[in-house]
Amino acid sequence: MKPGMNKILGIETSCDETSVAILSEGRVCANIITSQIVHKEYGGVVPELASRAHVKMIVPIMNAALAQAGFSLKDIDAIAAVYGPGLVGALLVGLNYGKALAWSRQLPFIGVNHMEGHVYSIFLEDEKPEYPFICLTVSGGHTDLIYVKEPLTYELLGRTRDDAAGEAFDKVAKMLGIGYPGGPEIDKLARTGNPDAINFPRSYAQAEHYDFSFSGLKTAVLYYLRDRNLLARDGAPVAQSPELNDICASFQQAVVDTLVEKTRRAATDYDVKHVAIVGGVSANSRLREVFTSMASRNNIHVYFPRLEYCTDNAAMAAYAGWLRLLNGETSPASLAAVPNLNIV
Ligand code: KG4
Ligand code: ZN
Repeated sequence: MKPGMNKILGIETSCDETSVAILSEGRVCANIITSQIVHKEYGGVVPELASRAHVKMIVPIMNAALAQAGFSLKDIDAIAAVYGPGLVGALLVGLNYGKALAWSRQLPFIGVNHMEGHVYSIFLEDEKPEYPFICLTVSGGHTDLIYVKEPLTYELLGRTRDDAAGEAFDKVAKMLGIGYPGGPEIDKLARTGNPDAINFPRSYAQAEHYDFSFSGLKTAVLYYLRDRNLLARDGAPVAQSPELNDICASFQQAVVDTLVEKTRRAATDYDVKHVAIVGGVSANSRLREVFTSMASRNNIHVYFPRLEYCTDNAAMAAYAGWLRLLNGETSPASLAAVPNLNIV
């Protein structure tokens, strides 16, 4: 990238958010996100509907981002778009739009790994972690514990062996009949529940390795609900307050305890004082609370993105793309969508 070329337009369409952002020198000038509501009645993301909604929204969202930033396309120096991981049809919309835009305007183009975007979401904030830091990436599809040695250099310490943390939230919410996506709903209901009411399992919390497992916890909740006739009926909750709130709080606490304990141990073992928690689940209020108190007990600096940057957004993709461009990288026009792209 030529010196002075610093205005990046980022595009994110990997799942059910259509988002376009504009960054200037790494600072957010616009970050427009629309969440597709079309999936709510199905209790999960329907891939074909997601792709269609992206096709419909990509141009208006880009125009809204340009308007918010007060720029026109002529001001943009480079384009970044997420090319994986995600739903292939959804990824293709943003990726192809980004590549075509770059080609038509003769601008550099960079494909971005969505998970690298999540890692760098924390760098959209003024207070940034120092290298090396540990990054816990907790989203709907991933639960990765990453040692970030230096910019754009990662060592994977552990990841989930089955369900991602966000997926566990969404599946438990479905069993309870409290809507999709389940994370924010459980978070809300748990606020008035007792986290010690039910002792759900904390899989691998004490194990030597840094991997996670949430399917045992999910099954424990299923059996708990089935044995008490509390499974959702016709998508509506059977369990009522205060029992419903206690189940949410106890399940949430089991997830939080595992995430915090594993991350604390990784930070201790690697002698790292800076820890970032990113991805959709990092919006969880209990997770933020417990991490913050663990960090102050252990003399660790903990970083959470603001809520807008926790869940999927194009600003994080634009930032990661900007770093890659500064590193002298660009992607070819032949770059394909990679649904199961890994960060390491
Ligand atoms: O990062 P993200 O927006 O998309 C993926 O890359 O997957 O994460 C979405 C996930 C969903 O599973 C959603 O339920 C979860 O993040 N989530 C939460 C909260 N807000 C979103 N989980 C727990 N508590 C929340 N407040
Ligand atoms: Zn994500």
